[in-house]
Amino acid sequence: MSSDPGHTNGYHNDDYQLQQSGGGRLRRGVRRRSREPHRYVPHGLPRVPQKPEETKPAPCTDFDMAYFQSYAHVGIHEEMIKDRVRTETYKAAIMHHRSAIEDKVVVDVGCGSGILSIFCAQAGAKRVYAVDASDIAVQAKEVVKANNLSDKIIVLHGRVEDVQIDEKVDVIISEWMGYMLFYESMLGSVITARDRWLKRGGLILPSNATLYMAPVTHPDRYSESIDFWRDVYGIDMSAMLQLAKQCAFEEPSVETITGENILTWPHVVKHVDCYTVQLHELESITTTYKFKSMTAAPLHGFAFWFDVEFNGHVLSSTNSDLPTVPLGSSNIPSVDGGQRKKRTNPNEALVLSTAPEDPPTHWQQTLIYFYDPIEVVQDQVIEGSLKLDQSKENRRFMNIRLEYASGGRSFVKESVLR
Ligand SMILES: C[S@@+](CC[C@H](N)C(=O)[O-])C[C@H]1O[C@@H](n2cnc3c(N)ncnc32)[C@H](O)[C@@H]1O
Repeated sequence: MSSDPGHTNGYHNDDYQLQQSGGGRLRRGVRRRSREPHRYVPHGLPRVPQKPEETKPAPCTDFDMAYFQSYAHVGIHEEMIKDRVRTETYKAAIMHHRSAIEDKVVVDVGCGSGILSIFCAQAGAKRVYAVDASDIAVQAKEVVKANNLSDKIIVLHGRVEDVQIDEKVDVIISEWMGYMLFYESMLGSVITARDRWLKRGGLILPSNATLYMAPVTHPDRYSESIDFWRDVYGIDMSAMLQLAKQCAFEEPSVETITGENILTWPHVVKHVDCYTVQLHELESITTTYKFKSMTAAPLHGFAFWFDVEFNGHVLSSTNSDLPTVPLGSSNIPSVDGGQRKKRTNPNEALVLSTAPEDPPTHWQQTLIYFYDPIEVVQDQVIEGSLKLDQSKENRRFMNIRLEYASGGRSFVKESVLR
């Protein structure tokens, strides 16, 4: 299987044919499901009627069904589970919060193959509701059975928005993060689960998440995809340049870079506190950025990455535009190879980081490239704004508008992460 599965622009080969032109986790195939939502009433527990003020769930669109179908493929679960950084951090977080999980009721939002539910059962959960709308739930049920956990883990095959759980829960666990954090729009389902079922004072893992951006230089990438056409077996194929730029850089690209590609400290695009974030906050995210390049280099675009923390408790307030801060996701090697400051982590929380300087994950980083590099000098200010909108057509996709101004040049680049 490809270790570089998520590309949106054909830069890398992909083992999978994706349903829409790229997009990593989205897989081939659309199939209609006509399944009634499951309703589970645990023995001996009183039925809690649905609150009258509960808002109606968003309808399940054809795009949603295609999305769930994409998760019915084994390859995507294999890829996620083989991402040891991801899976081992989740396991460590669950075991770290054992005292909050033992004898408690858990909901696993989007259980997939069931692995996080099983970790929670191993941590001593009394009952785990493992919810997944994809047909992978059928396999999850079998996995649970084969591990003699059917008395503890109840697999509900349906949408979090539709299934009924007739008790309040102590813990919500979910691996909901997409490329650029918000791609897939799954956080909305965690919010729905939180508002439907979480007890006051309950635990959410992960507890908060942060999306970062930073200017990048990547001459190798440019030369490999673009300059390559200048001399092909001695033939001048420069006529291909415009097309090559368009094909390579029109849409965001999911690929792995290193700390060496980063020109300066990252900027926090958005921080979400999973205890308090509201659905409407995710529809459109805007930020203004201002960087000062730490070196002279060709600027090729911007990189985006995220981290999530597994904290036991509610953090501060939600916020959006935190300033550009010397707060990498951990150590960010400077372009000259030195080390910058360590991430401030006052809570000593477990962190799952997808930063370029940290061990790679299947999320890699997401790059928005310019069509042509821009030479920047040391201390040059690079500023502009960024807008991330859930696509109106398919809320799993993300419309990106990047405004850029530096050294007397300014332009706007619009693209779609799909
Ligand atoms: C990123 S995978 C994580 C799977 C598993 N928890 C793991 O860590 O390996 C997300 C899963 O959530 C499911 N999912 C996404 N949104 C959902 C929703 N609204 N209701 C139920 N399942 C959902 C998808 O079908 C997919 O299997």
